[in-house]
Amino acid sequence: MKEQVKIFDTTLRDGEQSPGASMNTEEKIQIAKQLEKLGVDIIEAGFAAASPGDFEAIRKISEVVNKSTVCSLARALEKDIKAAGEAIAPAKFKRIHTFIATSPIHMKYKLRMEPEEVIKRAIEAVKYAKTFVNDVEFSCEDAGRSEMAFLKEIIAAVIEAGAKTINIPDTVGYRFPHEMGEMIKELKDFIGERAIISVHCHNDLGLAVANSLYSVLNGARQVECTINGLGERAGNAALEEIVMAIKTRKDIFDGIDTNINTKEIYPTSRLVAAITGIEPQPNKAIVGKNAFAHESGIHQDGVLKHQETYEIMRAEDIGLDRNAIVLGKHSGRHAFKKRIEDLGFTLSEEEINKAFERFKVLADKKKEITDDDIRMLITNEIASA
Ligand code: KIV
Ligand code: ZN
Repeated sequence: MKEQVKIFDTTLRDGEQSPGASMNTEEKIQIAKQLEKLGVDIIEAGFAAASPGDFEAIRKISEVVNKSTVCSLARALEKDIKAAGEAIAPAKFKRIHTFIATSPIHMKYKLRMEPEEVIKRAIEAVKYAKTFVNDVEFSCEDAGRSEMAFLKEIIAAVIEAGAKTINIPDTVGYRFPHEMGEMIKELKDFIGERAIISVHCHNDLGLAVANSLYSVLNGARQVECTINGLGERAGNAALEEIVMAIKTRKDIFDGIDTNINTKEIYPTSRLVAAITGIEPQPNKAIVGKNAFAHESGIHQDGVLKHQETYEIMRAEDIGLDRNAIVLGKHSGRHAFKKRIEDLGFTLSEEEINKAFERFKVLADKKKEITDDDIRMLITNEIASA
């Protein structure tokens, strides 16, 4: 039987913490709808207590998303949890994600709390979150540098209080893959079936994806990640890399799969790049501009003879249409509308009409309008809404 790894996307929360990546409510709604189309199991829509704008965006996303679970982050504080509970209230499937730091350095210098107080606060937070939703996730912030005995103690306590998912963040991207794997294995033996183990890996040493994959191999059944690997500092584990690694190396991930519709990966990546203005590096795995390009003659010749000589994945599988028809000034409204839908945007008829007028103006100046031109056009329209 197939085992599922849940994909928890935090582009709209941790991703938005990338310098320069802040998004307005309309932009977040566009991304949330596309994440749902991509098949993401849980969308972390923001941090409700962070600002009125974050609260409003989470609430609006909760009104329009009905297949994915909508989640808000909350510190282990009553006011944060209340804001999270209220923001996600309209969602069909909803989750509160509460956290507190568990590493000696964070407890001593950041929280200035004794370990016993941290456990007490965590229990109270989970119990309070349960008064809003049944689906509560608890994170041991900086678990990557926490002591195993303390992790087990706090995890047992929050499971008892009702947490359904236990997230193990490598908050500062410190762990190596084999260490991450060993930690998850030990925690899996300890937790058993009492809760789902999740991981949340940062990329400070470029190991976030490897750490996430080793965690899955050792029992994690939820992975937290972002589109294009956006996130604090060097970012979070990239969703597209985790999903395509699991799909491409079925021999290693025997029987384990995700719910992601991989054909929506490329459109989602482009949408996030257009909205945030943060372009993935050209050689970025899966979605970089060069990821499926072959420059050398030997490689080009090989691929023409047999695609698999130099390609381990098919561009079509991530939704990269190498033969996409370029639109121009003779293209009609119907073709234009279809293209913006394919690119992941959901617009009203009135918005489409306005965008189509702007498209025609641009098409008069530019011979060929690329998908990126259209994304730019639409994101400008959304930003000015
Ligand atoms: O990196 C981290 O520890 C986090 C938590 C809030 C889950 O983002
Ligand atoms: Zn994080």
